[in-house]
Amino acid sequence: MEDKFYYMLAPIENMTDSCFRTICHGVDMTFTEKVSLQALAKKNPFTMNKIKLFDDTPCMIQIIGQREPLLEKFLKDFKPSHGFQGFNLNLGCPNPEVVKAGLGCALMKRVSKVSRIVKTIKKYGHGVSIKMRLGMNQFEKDKKVYLNLIENVDADFFIVHARHGKETYTDRADWSVFSQCVQTGKNIIANGDIKTKEDVEKLKECKGVMIGRAAVENPLIFAELKSLEIPTREEIKAEYEKLLKERNAHSKYAKHIFKHIGKGVWRK
Ligand SMILES: Cc1cc2nc3c(=O)[nH]c(=O)nc-3n(C[C@H](O)[C@H](O)[C@H](O)COP(=O)(O)O)c2cc1C
Repeated sequence: MEDKFYYMLAPIENMTDSCFRTICHGVDMTFTEKVSLQALAKKNPFTMNKIKLFDDTPCMIQIIGQREPLLEKFLKDFKPSHGFQGFNLNLGCPNPEVVKAGLGCALMKRVSKVSRIVKTIKKYGHGVSIKMRLGMNQFEKDKKVYLNLIENVDADFFIVHARHGKETYTDRADWSVFSQCVQTGKNIIANGDIKTKEDVEKLKECKGVMIGRAAVENPLIFAELKSLEIPTREEIKAEYEKLLKERNAHSKYAKHIFKHIGKGVWRK
């Protein structure tokens, strides 16, 4: 990674498609919504469309899965394009069905498995990052499974969503864990409840911050946090609408962005 502090956009299903990622001016890294490894290996057209990159906005493709033969099958034919920066492994999804299938949060304890997946991706010459929670539950958090994973996996950076798998968004993210994570010497990106310059100041020991919900409300947040010149609200809305048309985006994306979480910059 470059010698700078990174500002990253979090993946948010049904919202952070390529159109949204492009209007996040000033962002240093973005991620596709999670896509299943099985679907990638089968070249499912819907999934291939989700990972299509249209411009140079830096982006990692987020994979949820664990079967190495499927990974090899997909990587053999994969051709990087535009802003592609590598792959991100989802070790954070706490959805009970996902966990039951041994994926997302459930993979956090399987350090050798995760390590092999990372090595396989690197063998093909691609970057790899990990997006994780603190464990599946309070017990795993207390056992510090997150530190064990960070210490023993050779990923380029680790995005730590500072909640365990049983916590919801009404529980505050526990930023006190970041110092221990940074002490491993690995590149740590802080995630969870980050909204303001003051928040970012408190997290400067990390390699960067990842912002999700606050960015969906205000995609100009990255430019604002970096004190860059920013487009007006009208300009950003017009740019977004133009991209939705040009890229033939599914209507659910605009619907969610404008209505579901439609606050901040989208408000009249
Ligand atoms: C509706 C919704 C969908 C999400 N989808 C994903 C996803 O596909 N992959 C992922 O790694 N995280 C996903 N997340 C988690 C976010 O990336 C992020 O870790 C979380 O929202 C905390 O960051 P924030 O407080 O800045 O929003 C999702 C979160 C929400 C609220």
